[in-house]
Order: sequence, then C-alpha cells, then structure tokens
Amino acid sequence: MTRRIDIVEVGPRDGLQNDPANLTTDQKLEFIERLQACGVKRMETGAFVSPRAVPKMADSGDVFKRAARPAGTSHIALALNEKGVRRAIDSGANEINFVLVAGEGFGRRNQNMSPQQSADALAACAPLIHEAGLPLSATIAVAFGDPFSGEVDTSIVANLAAQAQRAGVNEVALGDTIGVATPWDVRDRIERVRIEAPDVYLRLHFHDTRGLALANIHAAIEASVHTIDASCGGIGGCPFAPAATGNIATEDVIYMLDRAGYETGIDLNQMIATARWLETALQHPVHSSLSRAGPFPV
Ligand code: COA
Ligand code: ZN
Repeated sequence: MTRRIDIVEVGPRDGLQNDPANLTTDQKLEFIERLQACGVKRMETGAFVSPRAVPKMADSGDVFKRAARPAGTSHIALALNEKGVRRAIDSGANEINFVLVAGEGFGRRNQNMSPQQSADALAACAPLIHEAGLPLSATIAVAFGDPFSGEVDTSIVANLAAQAQRAGVNEVALGDTIGVATPWDVRDRIERVRIEAPDVYLRLHFHDTRGLALANIHAAIEASVHTIDASCGGIGGCPFAPAATGNIATEDVIYMLDRAGYETGIDLNQMIATARWLETALQHPVHSSLSRAGPFPV
C-alpha cells in the first residue's frame, strides 16, 4: 500500500467562491503563493463560470495569468460549459476540472442542466481540452445527496463516471457538496464507480457540514483512494446549496495523515500559519480545528 496521499487544495476556488469576504486579485495571488510555500502542488485556482452566477470568481482570468508556477505545480480551472473551457484554456490553466451533477434539483439551480445534460456538455467540450493537451478531470457534484431532490442513487453517480471515462477524463472526483455522506456511503460509491469506470483515478471531495468529513476521508483512504480535496482553514461552500458550510480543512487532513505516517509533501505548521493569515485577509475566523488547537507534538 502506498503511504503517499495527494492533497488538492481547493481554497482559492471552492473556498473563496462562497466566503462573505471579497479578496482582491492581489490578495488571492498572495494566498496562492502562501499555499505553494506550504508545499501544495495542485490547486483549484479559479472558476470560469458566469460572473453573474458567481461574482467572486469574476477575476479568475487575471488570477491564472498572474499566478506563480513553481516547477511541478498545477493550477486547475473549473468549468462547466464550452465558454468556460475556452476562457480557461486562454488564461493558461494547467488542467480543467469539469462539473457534472448527480441531482436534478441542484443541477437546475447550479448550472441550469440535468445530470445527463452535464454529461453531454462534458462530451462536447472534451475534444477541445484534449486538443489543448490539458489533463481533464470531472467532479460529480452532489454525488452523495442533493439539497433539493434528496437522495441520489448510486447508479446515477456510477453512470456519470462511466460517461466521463468515455469522454477521456482521467480523474473523477466524487463531490459531497452539501456534507451528507457517511463512511459507508463512501465505500459503497467508490466500489460502484470502480465497476462502471475502472480506468479513472478517483478523488474525493468532502464538506464538513455534518461533522463526518474526516471519517469519510478515512473510509476513502481505506478503499485505496490516494487523492483528496481540502481547503485551507476549512473555508468555502457552494452559493447554490442552502446552509452550505466549509470544505474539510487542509490542516486538519494533514494532521490526521501525518500522525498516521502518510506523506503529503505539505508542511503542517506552515499550513496552520496560512490559515491564520487567511483569517486576517478574510477578516473573520476560520473553523479548522488545527488553527485553533495547534499541532501535536509541539
Ligand atoms: N463564463 C462567462 N460567462 C458565461 C459563461 C462562462 N463560462 N457561460 C455563460 N455565460 C454568460 C453568457 O454569455 C450569458 O451572458 P449574457 O446574458 O450577457 O448574454 C449568461 O452567462 C447566460 O448564459 P446561458 O448560456 O444562457 O447560461 P444559463 O443562464 O443557463 O446559466 C451557467 C448556466 C452554467 C452559465 C451558470 O449557471 C453558471 O455559470 N453557473 C456557475 C455555477 C458554479 O460555478 N457553481 C459553483 C461551482 S460547482
Ligand atoms: Zn465543494
């Protein structure tokens, strides 16, 4: 079993898109540089969506053009239609993350698409992304439950993953957008997706809305998943999900993994310091456990 876990830092995108604060482009760039100094190699840096839908991502073009790119780092751009994909490629994204949606209700409100329409949009956009030579991943939003339509059937998630595989996606992220998953759901969905889409790498994305994100990450790792999303300070959430709360905090994940002997390449103390810096930039406290309690052993 590998002892390496890759963390995808999603603070600059999933984190900031729903925060009450309005960081300037310069502050976003400073956040990104601080994350890179912690050892972050892969991050969701911004989103190329309608600026009317998500005003906080309106400056993503500038963020991508100006973001530092130390060797071996990758800036991921989120997109969910052709216009977004073209903007992402033009802005110099290193990777595209396309958003599929597993629930009708959330799909309508978030991106005005049904689950099948989101898969069709991916199939239509994938050739553009392949032509540009960029790695393509897909996040399946509300993969564990939809705030408007309720339970999401595992077969829908597995079917979307299979369509993503056919479109040439190399990594599929199962997104618990509203924080309703349990560790047993996690194992079940991973098993089903592996049957229907055996060639894609799996990545898991948890929000800690109901306090189960670390348990869910443990379940994913026990199921041999090696890539986990997390957000510095635990900031974030989706503007289209009622009562959305933060992502699992990167420093809390690193603490758990460090203590278990996993390598992430990310420095815990520096990530805690970055979360504390973020509090001053956002002008409100962040909710991670480690930024309050500090590391152990000291
Ligand atoms: N970037 C910038 N503008 C975009 C865009 C993109 N990727 N996609 C669409 N637009 C603009 C269109 O040009 C159009 O502008 P106009 O009214 O000035 O002509 C407007 O948005 C509506 O476009 P339309 O294609 O009719 O989209 P829609 O109203 O059906 O909305 C989305 C669909 C996908 C554009 C919108 O719901 C969206 O951007 N959602 C983002 C959700 C999100 O980021 N959630 C969090 C992450 S999962
Ligand atoms: Zn999220």
